[in-house]
Amino acid sequence: MVGPRRQPSRKGSMADVPEDLFSEIKRLEDMFMVDTTKLKAITDHFVSELAKGLTKEGGSIPMNATWCMSFPTGYETGTFLALDMGGTNLRVCEINLPEEQGEFDIIQSKYRMPEELKTGTADELWGYVADCLQQFIEYHHEGEKLDKLPLGFTFSYPATQEHIDHGVLQRWTKGFDIEGVEGHDVVPQFEAALEERGVPIKLTALINDTTGTLIASHYTDDEMMIGCIFGTGCNAAYMEHAGEVGKLAHLNLDPKQEIAINCEWGAFDNEHKILPRTQYDVIIDKDSPRPGQQSFEKMIAGLYLGEIFRLILVDLYAQPHVRIFENQDISSLQKPYSLDASFLSDIENDPYENLQETHDNFVQQLGIKTTKPELELIRRMAELIGTRAARLSACGVAAICKKKGYKTAHVGADGSVFNKYPHFKARGAQALKEILDWEKDRDGKRLGRGRDPVEILPAEDGSGVGAALIAALTIKRVQDGLTVGVKNAEAMLKSCAPAKKS
Ligand code: BGC
Repeated sequence: MVGPRRQPSRKGSMADVPEDLFSEIKRLEDMFMVDTTKLKAITDHFVSELAKGLTKEGGSIPMNATWCMSFPTGYETGTFLALDMGGTNLRVCEINLPEEQGEFDIIQSKYRMPEELKTGTADELWGYVADCLQQFIEYHHEGEKLDKLPLGFTFSYPATQEHIDHGVLQRWTKGFDIEGVEGHDVVPQFEAALEERGVPIKLTALINDTTGTLIASHYTDDEMMIGCIFGTGCNAAYMEHAGEVGKLAHLNLDPKQEIAINCEWGAFDNEHKILPRTQYDVIIDKDSPRPGQQSFEKMIAGLYLGEIFRLILVDLYAQPHVRIFENQDISSLQKPYSLDASFLSDIENDPYENLQETHDNFVQQLGIKTTKPELELIRRMAELIGTRAARLSACGVAAICKKKGYKTAHVGADGSVFNKYPHFKARGAQALKEILDWEKDRDGKRLGRGRDPVEILPAEDGSGVGAALIAALTIKRVQDGLTVGVKNAEAMLKSCAPAKKS
């Protein structure tokens, strides 16, 4: 039996909540709600940290130069492989960019990233990745004699790149903890595994998922100025002028030369100056494989949302003055990372007035029977955690817009939180509106009547099409004799010569 469907208004839903739970709800609201003044202060600090990251001295946001040095024209052509080593899946694609502007064809296979690989050895990681690529090629090109295929490798972790076909892993993020990779160039490790298996591939570009998202989105919409990922991790990339990148000054690039910057904004405020961290954020950080890193990411990315929620419940259960889950075995809830962001999404999506689906999920996944007031608290907690994530994310987008002076722009966003978490888009848009103080909408009409000046929209496939485009742009650049930021230009020219059109 389920109750009636919920009405949009939740007025009165707290009426039956006893005092102890009600005061906890108020306490959590104080901790998790971020008002406009605070959003603006965070954004201003973010702008200065973005700029600091570009200087020679650097700051806590890495602002990695990616050596992707232009937007696509839409006339890139050729056939490319793309490999995406994400947190959950490994995806291999073959992308064909035909003569028609802005078009593409794609075939792809997904492989599960076994959980144990994330804390295993470097050899196991690269061996698995190379095996998947080999399987893909054998399946799709059975019996063919292949020249080396150019590959765009989406490696979505912070990497220092002196060249586009090179990348020293700064640190693992998103719970990865594989020895022998941090501080090393990942390209030779990856190529050695391919070589061992005789896989006919030449790495052309090592890219970040955000850079891929930026480029793929701009390919089909030239107003797209920022690429964002709101998924297991979170981050953004945008196009900067070389003249603004103090740490590249020694290369004497034309100051007007464009270069995509992978911000790695998950590291924003690692020194804890501005973000409204709660006691739960502090625990997440302390118990993570890399304490002190990714402060911003740990408050907003999908990997952590369920864990923040779990930590609050475990804390409430331990408080003698709070009566919650009385006489119940909460051992399943005590297991770290036992709830993922989809558990929270389901709570926020529960359409029933009596939160029946949430009740059932607690029974099925955790063996806990919830009362109506507990369900009200649970629902409010999910709203608070999800809303804080969306509002803080908007600070990063607003900061890039402010830094670049974008009054209007499209922002291409991808990732499980952006695509699946209820209300994430609307809450982010609301926060942007508050931060950027718009008076009129994009078409000069009164706000709320039309399109917002800065809109965060679903992106094109960055780690597939984006990776292929960046590989194509790199080859074209080398063919045109512009080899800055390319390590193996000669080898690239010899082995990869897809059709080109200028
Ligand atoms: C990584 C970034 C990546 C983001 C989204 C973060 O943890 O450091 O490189 O872009 O996750 O996948």
